[in-house]
Amino acid sequence: MNNMDLIKEAKKVRGNAYAPYSRFKVGAAILTGTGKVFAGVNVENASYGLTICAERAAIFAAVAAGETEVVSVAITTDGPEPTLPCGACRQVLSEFGESMQVIASTVDGKMQQFDLKELLPHANQGIIKKHV
Ligand code: THU
Repeated sequence: MNNMDLIKEAKKVRGNAYAPYSRFKVGAAILTGTGKVFAGVNVENASYGLTICAERAAIFAAVAAGETEVVSVAITTDGPEPTLPCGACRQVLSEFGESMQVIASTVDGKMQQFDLKELLPHANQGIIKKHV
């Protein structure tokens, strides 16, 4: 699964975004360390603060399936330029991949790629270590 394929998966699912308040539909697809793909969309709520972003929805689906290693995440939105994950999503993503690639794309094909480390430097430094 290459980046373009992952973007395709994010585009495919974007139509299912539930965004009646913002009308800003987001699709995300993540590639796990075992080669599986999990998709997510933003799900908004009348109580705005309960909205969940597409990236976190995708991550949570992966974890529910037993996957905790993420290689890359593709995000697709409609707009003049690619949308990058919000701060909350960057933090949640940082839990599941040391060298994760973040691929942001628009529906009409603009694309940007980052290492998650660029988007969230010094993530989790000094935080209590995981029990394994
Ligand atoms: N949103 C995402 O799903 N992912 C992002 O990276 C940026 C923002 C959603 C949240 C909300 O439903 C809508 O986009 C507008 O912010």
